[in-house]
Amino acid sequence: MAMSTSESAIPLEQQARLVEESKRSAAYQAVKDHLVASYTRIGIGSGSTVVYVVEAIAALGPGVTSNMKFYPTGAQSEELIEAAGLTLQFINKLPAGQLLDVAFDGADEVDDDLNLIKGGGACLWQEKIVATSAKRFVCVADFRKLSPRLGTNWKKGIPIEVLPMAAPRVLDELKQMGSHNPRIRPGLPGKAGAIVTDNGLWIIDAPFMPLHLLKDSSESGIQAGNGDNGVWAVDALADRLIKIPGVAEIGLFYGKNGLQVESGGQKPVAAYF
Ligand code: 5RP
Repeated sequence: MAMSTSESAIPLEQQARLVEESKRSAAYQAVKDHLVASYTRIGIGSGSTVVYVVEAIAALGPGVTSNMKFYPTGAQSEELIEAAGLTLQFINKLPAGQLLDVAFDGADEVDDDLNLIKGGGACLWQEKIVATSAKRFVCVADFRKLSPRLGTNWKKGIPIEVLPMAAPRVLDELKQMGSHNPRIRPGLPGKAGAIVTDNGLWIIDAPFMPLHLLKDSSESGIQAGNGDNGVWAVDALADRLIKIPGVAEIGLFYGKNGLQVESGGQKPVAAYF
């Protein structure tokens, strides 16, 4: 991810340390502010920032965590929960009509309205299920993740989980919608072919021009953001992407109930509802 001029003057090793410190401090602050001792059901997202969230939760000790159950968003977070000695539970065991108390997760980019791009780790489908099953979703993001509009810093594109047989048709449709060079995400180093998600599907990364904020935000009077000239508003694009046959889920998380929370050392982390 691009660093500012002043940051790029910092030696690489120091930059990496700064980012880790920012992730860690955001995670500890988020847990301090949003994990209440009486909570019993907690969602745990995926990625490197969430490692610090789990570390911060485990550091509270069994006196606080022993009555809590932790709901993962994929294989990585399942392992994290178990390795930390926390109690694992699955979202399909959540009784109908009940919600998680809170869910913590990371993001690839956060815009000024606290809309998110997620799915850099290919876990977006389960992440969205867990996030939308929680009373409160807390997104923990280091200072690099914030930008005025989605697609400004995160140039790899919007992650889209697709049925493999539909991938060529989805790619065609994305190009027609103005995505520049959408592509099937390759497997991890040393693994041939496409990456396969925890759900047995593929990921397409679809770059678009930086997205306008939601259509009902103050920008709506300026430009509709309905795809004309390749310009989309977050919600208009999300509505369109999810309707493409073969698309299972998309890595746009959006909503207007953003809650600005604690600093990751330099800039705020955010929650989108
Ligand atoms: C995984 C995700 C992650 O939350 C996102 O990629 C951020 O990861 P990291 O904390 O490693 O930067 O959406 O699908």
